[in-house]
Amino acid sequence: MLPLEDGFSRRFYYLRLSVTDVCNFRCTYCLPDGYHPPQGKVRNAFLSIDEIRRVVTGFAAMGTRKVRLTGGEPSLRRDFTAIIDTVANIPEIEKVAMTTNGYRLKERAREWFNAGLNAINVSVDSLDPRQFHQITGENKLAEIMEGIDAALGAGFTSIKINAVLLKGLNDYQLEAFLAWIKDKPIELRFIELMQTGEMDTLFRDHHLSGEQIKQQLLTTGWIQQLRNVDDGPAQVFMHPASQGGVGLIMPYSKDFCAGCNRLRVSSLGKLHLCLFGDGGIDLRDLLVSDEQQDELQQRIRTSLQDKSAAHRLHDGNAGMTPHLASIGG
Ligand code: GTP
Ligand code: 5AD
Ligand code: SF4
Repeated sequence: MLPLEDGFSRRFYYLRLSVTDVCNFRCTYCLPDGYHPPQGKVRNAFLSIDEIRRVVTGFAAMGTRKVRLTGGEPSLRRDFTAIIDTVANIPEIEKVAMTTNGYRLKERAREWFNAGLNAINVSVDSLDPRQFHQITGENKLAEIMEGIDAALGAGFTSIKINAVLLKGLNDYQLEAFLAWIKDKPIELRFIELMQTGEMDTLFRDHHLSGEQIKQQLLTTGWIQQLRNVDDGPAQVFMHPASQGGVGLIMPYSKDFCAGCNRLRVSSLGKLHLCLFGDGGIDLRDLLVSDEQQDELQQRIRTSLQDKSAAHRLHDGNAGMTPHLASIGG
């Protein structure tokens, strides 16, 4: 079967699947007031394990080889280990990853590894405990660092740390982050703040251009690597004296979206062609039985023809997405 391809010849081997919208942290740039269930609507349950199996099976039949489980905070689902196991057991899926705030890492890293999880991205926005508390609303830096050590100890060889550097707040932490990974097999991902629908003042006051971080890296001996398809939109850098590497996610840079290699499915079963700008295509009515695979795959393939060349975040447009917790970043 032909791999999934959009109208700009981009191919999609990578699915980001959100398993819950709920998050227990209150990151200033994402859910500053914490998670609140949507009001006025009938509460809709998140995808069940069977629905997850069906949607991933559909994507896998069309070439998906990597699935990243996201949220909200995915580990808040009580059946999270079973979700990993289900996805890892779909024959075509070669890599199962997760993005987490690190909340349950310390206790669960080994269990998740044994269930088939291959890669973990943990959000750590500051190595200073007080500042970490300020940014995330939780005084848990020490615990999360122990979780990262637990993940290394459990056998994970792919661990990335996400940090959103904010001008005048945690940007001075850049050097501390680089020093921290000097002797650690960890990749840092610096993510440029993206303006979402619910965030205005923070963006105006604290948006730091990724280009500035890039220049700082280049003037301190970091070397940009040739683009690898698996990097997706990230630009990757290495340093001869550092075991860990750095990736920059610079959504405002020219041609950022040309490297897009991912599609998203929300925790309510909507296909999102981009983090920004589309309301989502409902797939849930086709996740009721295993007999609907042909129809499901056809809907996904047809929908892909509407994927735009790029997001329109430039020129001061905020994304229509209220915050990234709703579709898993
Ligand atoms: P891997 O390449 O699988 O490691 O993924 P990643 O670095 O994209 O994973 P992660 O979930 O840790 O993503 C980090 C953050 O980068 C996301 O939460 C988003 O904020 C941002 N990001 C990831 N992919 C995209 C994208 O396609 N577009 C935009 N604008 N931002 C993205
Ligand atoms: N801009 C940039 N990154 C964001 N994240 C969440 N919201 C934003 C935003 N507005 C990222 C965080 C976290 C990941 C799950 O999503 O870096 O690591
Ligand atoms: Fe939660 Fe992640 Fe959003 Fe922080 S960035 S509030 S950890 S969903």
